[in-house]
Amino acid sequence: MQEMVLNEKQIDEKINVLAKKINEDYSKFQDIPVIVGVLKGAAPFMHDLIKKLNFPMFLDYIQISSYSGTESTGVIHLKKDVSVSIENKRVLIIEDIIDTGTTLKYVVDYLIKKYNPKEIKTCTFIDKKPMRKVDFNPDYVGYTIYENKFLVGYGFDYNELFRNVPYIFVPTKEDISKWDEMLENSK
Ligand code: IMP
Ligand code: MG
Repeated sequence: MQEMVLNEKQIDEKINVLAKKINEDYSKFQDIPVIVGVLKGAAPFMHDLIKKLNFPMFLDYIQISSYSGTESTGVIHLKKDVSVSIENKRVLIIEDIIDTGTTLKYVVDYLIKKYNPKEIKTCTFIDKKPMRKVDFNPDYVGYTIYENKFLVGYGFDYNELFRNVPYIFVPTKEDISKWDEMLENSK
């Protein structure tokens, strides 16, 4: 049996809580923040979240890759940089999940070094605690998990599949073998 981690209703509830906090914090600023989503995983979460934010914002995306199958490779590639100017701006990075912490730390360090923003805050939908290798604490977290589970759905992929599934689950060994076969057949 697949383990359901968060269903659609639970996802919506977590996002409401996050949006409330972010609205409280950001509504007091006079300047317009830039919301930067980390592609591709953060897209479903980011697009649900921003609909509930009630202040003006610029939107942008950065694309990073570090995963292969169910394991983080630890090697990070920047595939797409930001395209709006973030120099001297307030930046909020939106990520799907923090696992080892390598990706988000890399994104934050990269953006600070290259563009010198006024402030960088980070928001992740899921904080997966046990695998942390880099000391990094996000400013906003939707949901924390304390076991090392590989998640699929709602942006989380298995070799690029199932990002569209509207809920988050842990696949079974049988799922993985079936998907590997499907992927093999569609090469
Ligand atoms: P980190 O660099 O190890 O923190 O990994 C972060 C990235 O790995 C995230 O942006 C995700 O895209 C991916 N990732 C981490 N855990 C999972 C998972 O359980 N399922 C799918 N992708 C994951
Ligand atoms: Mg990601």
